[in-house]
Amino acid sequence: MTGSASRPVVEDTIRGLRARLDEARAGGQRVGLVPTMGFLHAGHRSLIERARSENDLVVASIFVNPLQFSPGEDFDDYPRDLDHDLAVCAWAGAGIVFAPGRHEMYPGPVVTTVRLGTLADVLCGASRPGHFDGVATVVAKLFSIVGECSAYFGEKDFQQLTIVRRMARDLSLPVRVVGCPTVREPDGLALSSRNAYLSEAERVQAPVLRRALEAGAALVEAGETDGAAVEARMAAVIGSASLARIDYAAAVDPATLTRGQQPLQGDVRLLVAARFGKARLIDNLGCRAG
Ligand code: PAF
Repeated sequence: MTGSASRPVVEDTIRGLRARLDEARAGGQRVGLVPTMGFLHAGHRSLIERARSENDLVVASIFVNPLQFSPGEDFDDYPRDLDHDLAVCAWAGAGIVFAPGRHEMYPGPVVTTVRLGTLADVLCGASRPGHFDGVATVVAKLFSIVGECSAYFGEKDFQQLTIVRRMARDLSLPVRVVGCPTVREPDGLALSSRNAYLSEAERVQAPVLRRALEAGAALVEAGETDGAAVEARMAAVIGSASLARIDYAAAVDPATLTRGQQPLQGDVRLLVAARFGKARLIDNLGCRAG
């Protein structure tokens, strides 16, 4: 682990955070932001470490954002452990943890939100309507609160990363959005706070998502240019796991997240999502066709 392990300052007000960051920037410090919903794991740690390596001061935000959960999703059960999170932030080198309460972020009924276009309707957006509008709204608020900075997001949530990048560009926000590689367990399972929901049997089968992506990428790299054939191959691999309920297996253009060019050409992003009991897991992989 890197970092000095000195305890970060915990801020729970927007005003207090802004005052600290204004002072830091006035002293010439570059600010890095790592937005999270807490229950931090090694994937978050790598984001904070990357932010620390490129900036003088890192803010990690911890806020379980109610706007991005639909009724019936796991907002109430979402795992939370602030003491553990503060220890991870300390080790990884965050100088400030921004941990606002719900009222600080949403003091009244939310009227103004970010409405996204087509990027939000496909893939995870198709089965989680409104989810990405909720993500974009809270991220826009965080960007507005923190101001000029570089912000670090994991590639594991590839659709989220694409949307946030696009939003920052469309709204001219003073934020450089940085995508960082997915951190995995030794058996290939992408780290996610929701892995905590997996039973022992589900945990054994969950790496099938990574195997499906590898099988899809191998097909593309062997010359397959029919997107439907690649998707069918990935779906078949996921289907071989008895506890997996597939949501989607897709081969898309990484910029538009749609099937776009047929036959497949150039950069292709393969994305999969499946449920294992209560856990809805996602993963993705880039490859090149043609
Ligand atoms: O990826 C997450 O943890 C969340 O979607 C984010 C970006 C912190 C917004 O709540």
